[in-house]
Amino acid sequence: MSGLRNLLGNLRRSRTVREDFFLDAENAPRYVAIIMDGNGRWAARRHLPAIAGHREGAKALKRTIKAAHETGIRELSVYAFSTENWQRPQAEVNALMEMFGELIDKEVPELDEKEVQVRFIGRRSGLSGDLLRKMAWAENTTTANSTMTLYIAFNYGGRSEIEDAFKAAAVNGKAGDGEMDFRQYLYAPDMHDPELLIRTSGEKRLSNFLLWQCAYSELYFTDKLWPEFNGEDLLKALAEFGLRQRRFGAR
Ligand code: IPE
Ligand code: IPE
Ligand code: MG
Repeated sequence: MSGLRNLLGNLRRSRTVREDFFLDAENAPRYVAIIMDGNGRWAARRHLPAIAGHREGAKALKRTIKAAHETGIRELSVYAFSTENWQRPQAEVNALMEMFGELIDKEVPELDEKEVQVRFIGRRSGLSGDLLRKMAWAENTTTANSTMTLYIAFNYGGRSEIEDAFKAAAVNGKAGDGEMDFRQYLYAPDMHDPELLIRTSGEKRLSNFLLWQCAYSELYFTDKLWPEFNGEDLLKALAEFGLRQRRFGAR
């Protein structure tokens, strides 16, 4: 926590953050989602292959999880691979799949130590048996952890999620039922709607992320490329959230 307190002190001095913004303030968001974008551009600027950007992006994710954990964020949802990302060059997709498997093996024990629960949202079809086993292992290993839940959106699409939920409801004979609780058919029914959605790299779109859940999320965009994102950037986003007035359609 002290590292972040120091960062917050610097941000206050530079007037990036309101004087009275505290990490534990009531208005600090507890449910945060991130579209981790810009790995390819980070690599291209250095004349490196895209996978080098993804590897650097993995480091940024590690930093961000640590900072989110320290600020008391309860749920962090990150977009790791979309249903549309299969359209990328085969070499990039293969390298990404390999990297995800390695990251699970390497990082989950540390996350488990921090009492972080890991959950995957997305379609399981199309993923290799090896990766599916690693994902199941990560979820089972961390299932009793409760300091923070890390939702990793993998082979995830917001439209696929809504379609899959509708199909599951239909199987239960519930589709079209006015009283139906749609949320219970989503990939992670107990996930809260993100209060804050962050997207890096300057793009200002959802790209099929959490379409149903982000109905009233506050949106925060930064030009920073994902591999450059750090704890201070997360704090800036949290601080900006603290200045927003949420109305949910009411007065
Ligand atoms: C996001 O970075 C990571 C994934 C989509 C897997 P990109 O690879 O989309 O980076 P840009 O947008 O090409 O810079
Ligand atoms: C969204 O980024 C997906 C992830 C970050 C995993 P993309 O780079 O795929 O989105 P577009 O193509 O710019 O909309
Ligand atoms: Mg992109």
